[in-house]
Amino acid sequence: MIETIKKHIAEVESFSSAKIEEIENFRIKYLGKKGVLNTFFAEFKNVPNDQKKEFGQVINTLKNAAQDKINELKEAYEGSQETKASYGDLSRPGETVQLGSRHPISLVKNRIIDIFLRIGFNVSEGPEMEDDWHNFSALNLPEYHPARDMQDTFFIQTNPDVLLRTHTSSVQVRYMENNKPPIRTISPGRVYRNEAISARSHCFFHQVEGLYVDKGVSFADLKQTLQYFTTEMFGKSKIRLRPSYFPFTEPSAEVDVYWGLETETDYRMTKGTGWLEIMGCGMVDPNVLKNCGIDSDIYSGFAFGMGIDRIAMLLHQIPDIRMFAENDVRFLEQFKSVL
Ligand code: DAH
Repeated sequence: MIETIKKHIAEVESFSSAKIEEIENFRIKYLGKKGVLNTFFAEFKNVPNDQKKEFGQVINTLKNAAQDKINELKEAYEGSQETKASYGDLSRPGETVQLGSRHPISLVKNRIIDIFLRIGFNVSEGPEMEDDWHNFSALNLPEYHPARDMQDTFFIQTNPDVLLRTHTSSVQVRYMENNKPPIRTISPGRVYRNEAISARSHCFFHQVEGLYVDKGVSFADLKQTLQYFTTEMFGKSKIRLRPSYFPFTEPSAEVDVYWGLETETDYRMTKGTGWLEIMGCGMVDPNVLKNCGIDSDIYSGFAFGMGIDRIAMLLHQIPDIRMFAENDVRFLEQFKSVL
């Protein structure tokens, strides 16, 4: 009989299953009321006295082995159930990650910066709250120039010398005052004008100013730079320069890019002409160079200024400039996929 018990011990030790029903059957078989162990215990009284000790030992070994085995298998089974539960259905589609989006003004600004960085320009900034000198006087705006009129400029309290800059051209002045030529810089930033708010104009908007000062800079350099910019920015290389007037440049021009008339939208955007005005530019007036401490007999330069909001409206077909400031997520979310 002892040999039979030893066989059972070997069987118990080699038993394995991951199925709960099989583990339960195994338990009933060994530890159940009518199980193997109870049958052997019932035999105890029939065992000759000289074998009782050994019989007792092997049957206890069998009991412990069976109990340990059941505990071990049950634990493994419960562990596997937990893992399954925490992973859930592995074939389920993943949860989408909500991506943020950049503001369309930032997207267009960053593209403009990128294009000019590639040809050696750096990025400079100036304060939004300016003084008369940097916003007007140094830029050759005579004292009674209409742009100084209260209607156009926000003055801080009643001090006419502290104002919100009306253009980023003020950064040109600051840059020239603090840096020696050669100068190649662009200055993006927010500007303010005391204007009625409508679909086309706002009391604050954004500009990028460009400035290049060195020996022998010519109008041809300006034109070539603009040509490069419009090709990179819009994928359109046909431009035209219309004579214009700005107090800080001489000669001055306005730049149009040929957009084309292929679609109904092109027709509306260009008012049927195919041409779009994108910026003002010119050769820096020698007076401005002098005002900023640069010798205009040695150096010359060109400057340009463009409106970021206007370009963003063109590129993304945005019908109303006020949308940029409203922070309506339904509007902003549309720029998620734009780099
Ligand atoms: N400051 C002008 C404006 O706000 C834009 C501009 C025109 C800037 C010509 C320039 C320039 O640097 O040369 O309308």
